[in-house]
Amino acid sequence: MLTTQNETTALDLTWVRSQFPSLAQTVNGYPVAFLDGPGGTQVPQRVIDAISGYLKRNNANTAGAYATSRNTDAMIADARAAMADFFGCDPDEIVFGPNMTTLTYGISRSIGRELGPGNEIVVTHLDHDANISPWRALEEHGVVIRFAEINEQDCTLDMNDLAHKITGHTRLVAAGYASNAVGTINNVKEVVRLAHQRGAMAYIDAVHYAPHGPIDVRALDCDLLVCSTYKFFGPHMGVLYGKREHLKRLHPYKVRANTNAIPNRWEWGTLNHECIAGITACIDYLADLGRHVDSSASTRRAALLAAYRAIQKHERGLMERLIRGLLVFAGLKLYGISDPKRFDQRCPTVAVRIAGHTPLQLATKLGERGFFTWDGNYYALNLTERLGVEKDGGFLRIGLAHYNTAEELERLLAALRELVGG
Ligand SMILES: Cc1ncc(COP(=O)(O)O)c(C=O)c1O
Repeated sequence: MLTTQNETTALDLTWVRSQFPSLAQTVNGYPVAFLDGPGGTQVPQRVIDAISGYLKRNNANTAGAYATSRNTDAMIADARAAMADFFGCDPDEIVFGPNMTTLTYGISRSIGRELGPGNEIVVTHLDHDANISPWRALEEHGVVIRFAEINEQDCTLDMNDLAHKITGHTRLVAAGYASNAVGTINNVKEVVRLAHQRGAMAYIDAVHYAPHGPIDVRALDCDLLVCSTYKFFGPHMGVLYGKREHLKRLHPYKVRANTNAIPNRWEWGTLNHECIAGITACIDYLADLGRHVDSSASTRRAALLAAYRAIQKHERGLMERLIRGLLVFAGLKLYGISDPKRFDQRCPTVAVRIAGHTPLQLATKLGERGFFTWDGNYYALNLTERLGVEKDGGFLRIGLAHYNTAEELERLLAALRELVGG
């Protein structure tokens, strides 16, 4: 990414960490290192304040003829504008929902109304199950699901196979922006191009990518893209971008009283208003982070892009350090890209196995020492099955976020050395 004139690109880590009250915790006398970001990140104080502030002052349903209800309508409009800046689209293309999985089931059910025998959907072996099972549910309608292969040696998507699997019968291609298990960033723009070339729609799961890199739905030209704000410093909610034409044309399952106007026709029942208030605060946190590194950022979108330049630079340094430190362990196998020259093709999400220790044993022992990592398949079930590790407990996942420090990683590597030797 290009930097601008007034930009330092260096993350002000002291400022960043001061925003997140939970980072100061200890467990068993050890400082906590949150290396579980891919499962859900920590939140800055302003997100907590926005949620409780909404409940204190404006708790109401929408569209009422009184102050707190009007404030609620305005608050939701603000959150849509914030997410539109985040994705690079318009506010009426933003749909809120409980989480990515529920939003994806809603979309798959409505797209499924138009599909039947003779239609195909392409999914990938690299994806989280939430971007596979909702599409497989359409097998009930006679839709054929085809799986794009991976290159096992570096856990990347096999783009030739993907291109081959997309045919004139394909109606939709569902692919992840980045793998929540092994960190691979896919060439999403090319996935979208391949889908469109054959007249298919592209549905992108950006849940894992969102905390690590900027999203530009117009540049990607994707039809639908979904993410979860709790993975990028916000509350437990899902957000969907849909091209206006699709949100208008597709038929949601919805109650009769619900409007037909977009985007609300895709939002069923009463939303989680307090969390929506938290979403604006989370986007504004990221924008402020951007203004810290680039004081010339004149719009919120520009500030967000500056934030991601600093985040990527910081995370890249941490990732190099972590992977270099891990690769010297005897009996350690890293799944995913390990060549630093290719690190722009991966997120700082590192999956390993260490001979003689199950991922659960390692995660448990690390957890007792304040290192919060994850073990298992993290719902990337097709991938752990494909790589033959599902029956042996999956991987140990060390997931970095921009609030992590080099010192935490040095302590982690030292703790691992003590636990496994080497
Ligand atoms: C890549 C990816 N996709 C989808 C999901 C599901 O997200 P949600 O919990 O919002 O349904 C996750 C959650 O871990 C994920 O990491």
